[in-house]
Parts: sequence; structure tokens; C-alpha cells
Amino acid sequence: MERPSVLIAMDGDIESHVIALERAGFDTRGAAGISEPHDLAVIDCDLDGETVSSVYAALKERGGVQVLLLMGAKSELPAGVGGAGDEVALKPVPPDALVYRLQALLIRAGRTLPSESGAWASNEGLSGSPMAGEGHVVSVFAPKGGVGKTTIAVNTAVALRQQTRSSVLLLDADVGVGNVTSVLDVPDGLGLADLADSPPEEWTDAAFEHAVSTHAESGVKVLTWGTDPAESERISVDLLLAALRWARNHHQHVIIDNHPGYDDRTMAMLAVSNEIFLVVTPEVGAIRNSSQFLELARELGLANGVRVIANRANHGIKVEQMAESLGMPVAATVVSNGPKAIIASNEGHPVISKFPREKISDDLHGVARLISQPDGVLSPARTSTSRRWWARLGIRTSQA
Ligand SMILES: Nc1ncnc2c1ncn2[C@@H]1O[C@H](COP(=O)(O)OP(=O)(O)O)[C@@H](O)[C@H]1O
Ligand SMILES: [Mg+2]
Repeated sequence: MERPSVLIAMDGDIESHVIALERAGFDTRGAAGISEPHDLAVIDCDLDGETVSSVYAALKERGGVQVLLLMGAKSELPAGVGGAGDEVALKPVPPDALVYRLQALLIRAGRTLPSESGAWASNEGLSGSPMAGEGHVVSVFAPKGGVGKTTIAVNTAVALRQQTRSSVLLLDADVGVGNVTSVLDVPDGLGLADLADSPPEEWTDAAFEHAVSTHAESGVKVLTWGTDPAESERISVDLLLAALRWARNHHQHVIIDNHPGYDDRTMAMLAVSNEIFLVVTPEVGAIRNSSQFLELARELGLANGVRVIANRANHGIKVEQMAESLGMPVAATVVSNGPKAIIASNEGHPVISKFPREKISDDLHGVARLISQPDGVLSPARTSTSRRWWARLGIRTSQA
């Protein structure tokens, strides 16, 4: 098995970047190795225009290479450079961020990450089409537990289904802790834990379909990591990514309920999502954690996909103040309604179905409308299929 090779055409002192990439399992080569085949390439657009153009043209001539273009605030793309499949990172790009961007490129192209030993995991037998260009994936995330991620993920999935009648899959990726099925009553499904001991060749469409349950009342599909915390260690990043790839290939919308933290599984989920709904409660601690996350997201090129959802927004710190502290607008607010939230979850119903007339339900529908009506117009199945590369640039550039 070969390591993914990366051609590096960058200026200045790049030793720490090369070390970070090699450590992450990439095989790095300098621009002098342009005639060899590569999987990925990094081109610094502040190199002289002729070099940028000729390296880019040589790579594209051979095809199949994914290019990450590094741009400064004043860099200009020479004519002919930049196209479908390329991505842009705004400089400075620290070594870890570069590793992360390249891993995300691999993941979005439907490839598995190199392991620390430097080998590719086998990709054969997976439902192999690329991550890009399929269903729309929204990660519900917060660096902190107990802020309402699961409540928002479950209700957003059901509301989205009601609003659009499109196929919606809810993925419980809060491995070891979260349990979507304890607040949403679905028949016992198998969950991903049952695939954890099988080799990747057996992670087929049929296997994932078998692991899914359906919430009868809404038609939302639910795929959980499992239920037994003892099994959680066996659920690998690769298995979660394979599950997400399958989910995205077969559903118009995928909502992920994430683990609160910065573990590899969660970071992989965030990196491949089209949008991240960052749930924040109006408390100093939650706002501080969220600011730290936003800083990291900017570094990793994920910040432009983040939307802030203020939960329990009618208590504590005011929404305007939250937005100011976070340096980002609040995209939607959800009021606090403890009694109703508890009654609904005890009965295994989403709040929006159990108490449709309450303000909390209106608000949760508002969260789902961020997805169903991104421009204020109902769009049943917004996918990234037709997104052009310069639009992707908007989503994946590394500074907000
Ligand atoms: N807007 C809200 N109003 C009242 N209770 C809420 C609200 N959002 C969440 N809760 C309650 O707070 C608790 C934690 O929510 P949960 O969604 O499980 O958070 P997380 O997934 O972030 O740990 C649950 O008991 C839930 O019912
Ligand atoms: Mg949760």
C-alpha cells in the first residue's frame, strides 16, 4: 500500500510543514518531482506567476490530482489556474492546518486517510463515489455537552423532513455517549458498532441499510453509533466516514449529532460537512468555548460553513452580546422550554411533533429553514452538485 503523495510548490521555510505532513502519513515531494505522479498538490500562489502556471498546467495535464492553492490577501491567480475540484486556503496556513486541509481533500474525494503508519486504508468495496457533489451534510456541534445539540439535531431532522419531504438521515456520531434513540423513539436498529469488526470490504450499501432504523411518524432515517459504551473504541474514523459517504449518496440531507470535543472522529465529521451548526447557550463558559472553536475553525478553513444557533436564548446573556463576543451573527435562536422538552423526550417524541404550537417548536422549525430555505426560498434538496469552484472557495477558504 502506498502513501498518498503530495507535490509541494511553496516558498520560504517549509520544513515544519514537510515534517507535519510526513508524520501524518503523506509522502512529500518538491516541485522538482513534477514529472512523477501525485495524488495531491499544494501550490503557493505567491510564487512567481510563471512557476504557478507551469506547475499547475503540468499537474492538470496528467489529471487526477487534487490541488490546494495557498493565497495571501493580495495574491492573484494567473490565468488558467483554478478550476473544479481545486480548493483554496488563505495564508498563513500553519503546518497542522495544511495537514488537515489535505486530509479533508482526500476525504471529500472519497478516499480514506493515511494511517499513522503511512499506509492507505483499503478503499475497495466501499460505496465508492466521492464525498463531494452528493447530499447536503450539516453537523450539529458544540465543544461542550448539555447545550442542546441532540435536541437541535433531532428536531432539525424531523422539521426538515416535514418542510421538504426529502430524504433525511440523522447520524448519531456522539460515539460512546450520545443516544439519539433515547429521545427519538425508533425500533431497535443495529448501529455502526455491529460493523466495527468487519473489514472495510464488508461496509457495503446493504450493510449500512441494515444498520438503519426509521422514525415511523416522520420518516426520518436514524443511524446510530450503537448503544454500548464498551463498543465505542471499535468505531473508527474510517467507519464513520464510510457511513457518512453512504448516507450522503442515498439521502438529500444528512444531519450529524456530534460528540462535544476535538477528537479525530469529530474533526473528520466537521471537515466533511457542508455546514456546521454551532450550538451556544447564553453563558460565559459556553461562549468562551465557542470562540475557541471558531478560532480553530478559521485555522482549518471551516469557519465559513459555521452558523451560530443560540439555544435557551431568552435567558442570560443577550443575543446581540453573544454575536459580538463571537464575532459572528446568530443565525437562529431557540427559546428555553424545559418542561416541554423533558415531557417530549421522555415519551420519545420530538418537541416539534408533541408541542407543535409552542414557541420552541417555531424556533426549531426556524433552524431547519436555514437548510431548507437557505436564501429564503424553499429548496427541497439543495446539493452541492452544481457548486462551482469559486463558490466552494467561499465555503472552504481559511479565514472568515
Ligand atoms: N431549548 C431548550 N429548552 C429546554 N430544555 C432544553 C432545550 N434544549 C435542550 N434542552 C434540554 O437540555 C438537556 C440537554 O440537551 P441535549 O440536547 O441532550 O444536549 P447535548 O446533546 O448538547 O448534550 C436535555 O434534557 C434537553 O431536553
Ligand atoms: Mg447529545
